[in-house]
Amino acid sequence: MANVAVIGAQWGDEGKGKIVDWLSERADVIVRFQGGHNAGHTLVIDGTVYKLHALPSGVVRKGKLSVIGNGVVLDPWHLVREIEAIRAQGVEITPDTLMIAENTPLILPFHGELDRAREGQTAVAKIGTTGRGIGPAYEDKVGRRVIRVADLADEATLALRVDRALVHHNALRSGLGLEPIDRDGLIAELREIAPQILPFAKPVWRELDQAKREGKRILFEGAQGALLDIDFGTYPYVTSSNVIAGQAATGSGLGPDAVEFTLGIVKAYTTRVGEGPFPTELHDVDGERLGERGHEFGTTTGRKRRCGWFDACLVRQTAATSGMHGIALTKLDVLDGFERIKVCTGYDLDGERLDYLPTASEAQSRCTPVYEEMEGWTESTEGARSWADLPAGAIKYVRRIEELIGCPVALLSTSPERDDTILVTDPFRD
Ligand code: IMP
Repeated sequence: MANVAVIGAQWGDEGKGKIVDWLSERADVIVRFQGGHNAGHTLVIDGTVYKLHALPSGVVRKGKLSVIGNGVVLDPWHLVREIEAIRAQGVEITPDTLMIAENTPLILPFHGELDRAREGQTAVAKIGTTGRGIGPAYEDKVGRRVIRVADLADEATLALRVDRALVHHNALRSGLGLEPIDRDGLIAELREIAPQILPFAKPVWRELDQAKREGKRILFEGAQGALLDIDFGTYPYVTSSNVIAGQAATGSGLGPDAVEFTLGIVKAYTTRVGEGPFPTELHDVDGERLGERGHEFGTTTGRKRRCGWFDACLVRQTAATSGMHGIALTKLDVLDGFERIKVCTGYDLDGERLDYLPTASEAQSRCTPVYEEMEGWTESTEGARSWADLPAGAIKYVRRIEELIGCPVALLSTSPERDDTILVTDPFRD
C-alpha cells in the first residue's frame, strides 16, 4: 500500500487534472495541501467536463473523501460558488464527502484587492499573479494575523481577528491609495458565509491519521508546479506556497513518511504563465504551434501561456527537490509532426556549462540553454494505449527524457480522455 503525492514538475498546467482523476479512482482520500483557487484542474469524465479550482478532484467521484488541508488558502465565497456549480452538474457534496481543515487560512476580499493593486502598480512589482489574493493571504498567515476557518465559529473571536488584520491592512491600503476596509461590513459578510463553511470544518489531521492507520489510500493533490515553489522556484516570480512534495505532509498534518510515492506531472514541452525567467521559451513559429496544438490558455485566467522546448535540466532539479519516484508524461501528441525537436540539457553561463539553473536572477538572465536536437516523428501518438502504438521516434524521445531527468515514466498520457493512458508503474503499487 502506498500513499501518493502528485505534484506539477514544471510551471504548472502540466495536465494534473486528468492524472489526479485517474489516480483518485484508486484512492480513498484525496487531499489538497497547498495553493488555493489560483489552480485550475479540468476533469473529463464520460464526456462531462468539470472545472475545479479550490475543490479536490476527488469530489466528482462517489465514495471518496475529499479534504482541503491547512496548507491551502481558502476563499469561502468562491468555495460556496464552486460547490454550487459542481452540485448543479449532479455531484453530491456533503460534510461526509468534503472536509476542510479548521486551521485553514481564509482569503478575504481585501487580499484580492491588494494582489491586484500591487500588480497594477509598477512594472517592477508585477509578478503576473492570478489576482486571487493568494500571496496576501499567505503573508497574513505567516504574519499571524490571518482569519482561519475555526475563527468563523465564534463571533467575539472573529471580531478580534478582523481587528488584528485591519491594523496592518488599513495602514498598507492608505499607502496604496485604497479606501480603509469596512470593518462591520466584513464581519457581517463573514457571519453570513460561516454557516455554509463550518459544517465541513474538522480537525482534518485526526481524520487523516485515522485513515492512515486503517490502511486507506491517500492521494495528495498538488497544484501549480515545483518551479513556482516559494523556496525552490524562480523567485520572486513564484506563487506564495511550497509546491514541492514535502509540503504534502506540512499542508495536511501527516508526518513526512505519509507519502511513499511522489509522482511528478511533466509536460512533453514547457509552458509558463505570468512573468519570470523561462530559458527555453520560443518566440517563433514552433512556439506558436505548441500553443495552438496544446490549447495553451489558462483555465483560471484565460491568459495565453508562454511556450518552449522541454527543459530537462529544470525537471531534473524538480525531481531532486521533490524526491520524485516517477513521472506522468503528458501531451506528447502536441509534438507529433515536428520535424526536429529540441531538449535543453543544461545551460551555458559565460562559456561554463551548468547542469542546474543558478539561483541569482542576474546569473539566470545570462544563462543560455544548451540543446540536444532530436529527429521528430510524423505519425500520431494521440490516443495510444500501449508502447506498441507509439512511433519509434516518440519512444526514443520519452526514453531520452527519462535518462536526462533521472526519473522513470510511470504513466504516459496520450489525450485528455482518461483511458488514453499507458501504465508502466502503478504509483499505488498493488
Ligand atoms: P499567484 O499564485 O496568483 O500569486 O501567482 C503567482 C504566479 O504563479 C504567477 O506567475 C501565476 O501565473 C502562477 N500560477 C499560479 N497558479 C497557477 C496555476 O495553477 N498554473 C500555472 N501557473 C500558476
